[in-house]
Amino acid sequence: MKIGVFDSGIGGLNVLKEIMKKHPNLECLYYGDTLYLPYGEKSKEELIKLGVRIIRFFEEKQVDRIIIACGTCSSLVEEYQKYTAIPIDDVIGPTVEYTKSHYHKVALLATPATIKNGIFEKKLVQEGIEVHPLSCPGFAPYLEGLSETLNIEEELKPLQSENYEAVILGCTHYPLLKEEIEKTLSVATIDMGKILSEKINLKESAPLLTVYMSKVTPLLEQNVNKILEREILLIEKNLPV
Ligand code: DGL
Repeated sequence: MKIGVFDSGIGGLNVLKEIMKKHPNLECLYYGDTLYLPYGEKSKEELIKLGVRIIRFFEEKQVDRIIIACGTCSSLVEEYQKYTAIPIDDVIGPTVEYTKSHYHKVALLATPATIKNGIFEKKLVQEGIEVHPLSCPGFAPYLEGLSETLNIEEELKPLQSENYEAVILGCTHYPLLKEEIEKTLSVATIDMGKILSEKINLKESAPLLTVYMSKVTPLLEQNVNKILEREILLIEKNLPV
């Protein structure tokens, strides 16, 4: 089967990588909306507009399934599903399920938009989990090269006085900072891509990967090759908003 996976940029590649590890014989299309990132600073209306044009693109490409490899857009999965008959999977649902069966008290790191939206936190609380949410506005922009410095200790300071059983990396960019986050908070992290790849049921056919980005830069090429651990030819494809 053919799947379409999207995110604002390189973060969703952490999800795609896990899916490809678990399901090596899939036809995968990836769309990174690098021209419009960071998604974590967009309003709900903007995120819907941006996401729907990616859904239309995947419809043209005739994918069988769409995977939102973005925590921010996953809060809006029900909205996106109204625009297409193609089944959409998100990263929040499986992460909540997993957390429920393993932990009682967690921290949730995510983008400002995810924390403001509150759906991720609400779903965890509904399952009886004690959640300490923290918006990390500097993380994704730094990882995409939009800012040159990042003070992880400073960003994580509000969480340092409590003890948690685990920390949910609620933005798909954050596994790229996994070691630093674990060291700063002295606690294990939960990776949404790993959880989704374990849970999702996909029918395998033949392996093929095509990666589209709305804007390609040399830094982006380097980052993509590093994450996927191979040389990938990026196709620049700007979708009109
Ligand atoms: N990787 C995305 C997420 O999981 C979006 C990061 C951003 O563009 O702000 O939330």
